[in-house]
Amino acid sequence: MALTIGVDVGGTKIAAGVVDEDGHIVENLLRPTPADSPDEVADTISEAVLELAGRHDVEAVGLGAAGFVDETRSIVRFAPNLAWREEPLQKKVAERVNLPVVVENDANAMAWGEYRFGAGRGESHVVCVTVGTGIGGGMVFGGALFRGRWGMGAEMGHMQVVPAGRLCGCGNLGCWEQYASGSALVHEARVVAAAEPDRAARMLELAGGSVSDIEGEHVTKAAREGDAAALTAFASMAEWLGQGMADIAAVLDPGCFILGGGVSRAIDLWIDQARASYLRALTAREHRPHADIRPAELGPSAGLVGAADLARHP
Ligand code: BGC
Ligand code: NA
Ligand code: ZN
Repeated sequence: MALTIGVDVGGTKIAAGVVDEDGHIVENLLRPTPADSPDEVADTISEAVLELAGRHDVEAVGLGAAGFVDETRSIVRFAPNLAWREEPLQKKVAERVNLPVVVENDANAMAWGEYRFGAGRGESHVVCVTVGTGIGGGMVFGGALFRGRWGMGAEMGHMQVVPAGRLCGCGNLGCWEQYASGSALVHEARVVAAAEPDRAARMLELAGGSVSDIEGEHVTKAAREGDAAALTAFASMAEWLGQGMADIAAVLDPGCFILGGGVSRAIDLWIDQARASYLRALTAREHRPHADIRPAELGPSAGLVGAADLARHP
């Protein structure tokens, strides 16, 4: 059975795996993402691929990258939350590994993985939203991944939701990912903790007492233990997510939304609120079927599995 390698290149770690035609991971490995150096990122990816290719007979490589990938599936033109600018990632890795390589947007890869092997199987109109450092989007309609004219479709995280709002990594103000991502969750938690430390007692304790040391894991743990400020932060993120998905439904009318990304590991804490917010905001809500909002099934491996599968598809 033909094997391919999928690599999910995130802001903190690089996950690489050998995947078969049924989406099963045969072997995988994890490497930390070298900060701020695109050359070192390309080296780390290549080394991981060479290591796996030395042990398995693989045909091709798919890379999922958190940025704007061009229509030739080669160049990461821009990444709001990483150092890539006009980065010839495909060329750098292909030269090193001597295999066919394609580069895909990370959220597109995840959407494809979920459509082929996860929560989107059998669906005709799938919209995937990844909630992590940023917000990524991927859309599969009629069995085809939607890339837009220049490869940059489905960049939902950069819809403006607040006029003159928070500065985004993309350079614009008020983008959705500044209000509904994992980073937004942490931002909100810190704001609430600074304003009302009593309500944030547990979260502050977990962060060693300092507001600026609050991280996502603290917010999640404190929320599970009932910390009021942490729950407020999750509620805010969920509210913005639901509102944004309603806007997306106004344009695309999907049959389902699949929610993935790092923050979906704690999805039980916020999916009901996101669903409620979605229904409140949905236009013509009483006169249309409602898209099912469901968690991703492949978990943290969805991007890797999708990228590996896309390496076989045009
Ligand atoms: C980027 C997308 C990416 C998403 C999730 C956004 O900031 O613009 O390209 O898919 O983050 O990583
Ligand atoms: Na995308
Ligand atoms: Zn933006």
